[in-house]
Amino acid sequence: MPPASDERLRLDALMAEVRAAFVRAGIDTPGFDARLLIGGLLDISPTAMITGGDALVPAGDVARVREAVGQRIAGRPVHRILGWREFYGHRFALSPATLEPRPDTEVLVEAAIAEVRNIMAAKAACLIADLGVGTGAICLSVLAEVPGCRCIGVDRSPEAVETARANAEALGLSDRYDVRVGDWFDGIDGLFDLILSNPPYIPSAEIEGLSLDVRKSDPALALDGGGDGLDAYRAIARTSGGRLAPGGALMLEIGQGQEEDVAALFVAEGYGFAAKHADLGGIDRVLVLRKH
Ligand SMILES: C[S@@+](CC[C@H](N)C(=O)[O-])C[C@H]1O[C@@H](n2cnc3c(N)ncnc32)[C@H](O)[C@@H]1O
Repeated sequence: MPPASDERLRLDALMAEVRAAFVRAGIDTPGFDARLLIGGLLDISPTAMITGGDALVPAGDVARVREAVGQRIAGRPVHRILGWREFYGHRFALSPATLEPRPDTEVLVEAAIAEVRNIMAAKAACLIADLGVGTGAICLSVLAEVPGCRCIGVDRSPEAVETARANAEALGLSDRYDVRVGDWFDGIDGLFDLILSNPPYIPSAEIEGLSLDVRKSDPALALDGGGDGLDAYRAIARTSGGRLAPGGALMLEIGQGQEEDVAALFVAEGYGFAAKHADLGGIDRVLVLRKH
């Protein structure tokens, strides 16, 4: 029986209460979600969540956690409740118009950082395009890691552009980050040393089969890749060729099993396959293409 709402509670007791509520509600990862939710809401580090069980949580914070537990049980993902998500070691604010950046996308960031370091070593400058910025997670993570490079981002959603701009500001990267509303390259001019994109790639008919959490929380514009999932790749393949600086590269996140189809679209536009990178689950997640 939970204590009255004006009572303080030990952190380990609160953790046990929340975990048990999630188990009863049939949430897949009850302990993980409980730790993430309590730690995120109350700003308690992952280590303190494990070692600080005897800390007393003030009554007001207990009430906030219980209110958030209700939201989670009603189907809201933890990070949507918190309003932010960690990605590549940084905190990115979310909005209803942005996808929650996923850990798999960090593979694209890793590959991009290596490429940008090489370009910076050769030219002492590097201009990156990020197509479909969402929260800005991809390119802002690269800018944070490599001093001197710059990014122009684009998104069709004005709200996503606002969120990405605010994230750039919060990370102190605004002076190297320019983000606009637009339809892929229609939104931006110029030649780029590196083009990055994690476009929507889920076939329309498969959206219904996604988990309720994803369907309810991630915007359709960020997920729906059209009939075969490849509409965005087609548009980018058609319009990106003239936008690569000599020696430049294009790096794309892809959905499971899309590697050959996506590569073929770009080869038909004069690109050559250069490399691919797998995610932590061993699934090919990133394609690297170059113009010859
Ligand atoms: C899969 S999300 C990726 C978001 C972010 N880059 C990330 O990895 O977390 C795809 C993004 O593309 C944007 N988008 C969809 N169609 C677009 C278009 N025609 N032009 C520009 N952006 C588009 C969506 O609004 C969404 O933010």
